[in-house]
Amino acid sequence: MDLRSLLISLLLFEAASAVSANAHRTYQHVDEATGRTLTCDRCPAGTHMRAHCTATRRTQCSPCAPHHFTQHWNYLPKCLYCSAFCGENQVVVRECSPLHNRECACKPGYYLRADFCVKHTECPPGFGVSLPGTAERNTQCERCPHRSYSATTSSRDTCTPHTNCTAHGLQLLLRGSKKRNNLCASCEDLQHRGALMILKQILPDFFAHQKKKMTKLAQFVRHLLPVDKEVAHLCHKQLLSHISEWIQDAGQDRLRCLPAMLRASRLHRVACKLERMIMTVEMSGDCINSH
Ligand SMILES: *[C@@H]1O[C@H](CO)[C@@H](O)[C@H](O)[C@H]1NC(C)=O
Repeated sequence: MDLRSLLISLLLFEAASAVSANAHRTYQHVDEATGRTLTCDRCPAGTHMRAHCTATRRTQCSPCAPHHFTQHWNYLPKCLYCSAFCGENQVVVRECSPLHNRECACKPGYYLRADFCVKHTECPPGFGVSLPGTAERNTQCERCPHRSYSATTSSRDTCTPHTNCTAHGLQLLLRGSKKRNNLCASCEDLQHRGALMILKQILPDFFAHQKKKMTKLAQFVRHLLPVDKEVAHLCHKQLLSHISEWIQDAGQDRLRCLPAMLRASRLHRVACKLERMIMTVEMSGDCINSH
């Protein structure tokens, strides 16, 4: 719909609603035949005035034509056109009827900003949804409070409290962060699988959450994959999924090589972090220390 027709229908609308607010169901009309001022009935909503009343005949009303409406008692010569058309990312919440214009709202996952439906903001890892978005309001994110985390980029997920390992009779292997839960394990699990293989399950997320240059990441993935694989054209997500697959298949010895491989791709900061994590999990757990 163009702006001018929107304005015109708005003005007509305003006029119509202002009059109806007075609850007047009549109007004054000068009869052409006699020159006398007559009090005519208005036409009810859903109809319009086809002919003014005369000294001998009441106002004549006609139903609105298809795609037209009147919402109030009126004496409009024509019903108003259903001028609202739902645009991009909108849905019809009320279809055009003789009694009202079509009404649109933003589709789920979108909200109205400056006449456009815009996608709800997704809270990044480390942030949770504090107030979900609606058709009128954007998502509100909060930095995860102490001892809670959010690992996802989401417009729905809130921050989740870290699992209390000891309350579950488990060992705390690695303290959580705003982006990661506490890593817990049972003594049996530690003895059977080893700390590194337990750490392995959180490594894909760890890689996803590191800020790193695409070129370095691509170089790193080239180190992981067979030489004939081409990685230059891969996007961030695809590179990360290669890393996840590699981790999935890796045993302890290969996992232990990861920091060195990261250094070879000049991902020094990530290498240090990973080394520290490996050291922490391998030293933690009372059941290990008692052996
Ligand atoms: C974890 O649970 C234990 C036992 O239920 C409790 O003593 C401890 O305070 C809890 N720790 C945290 C960080 O909530």
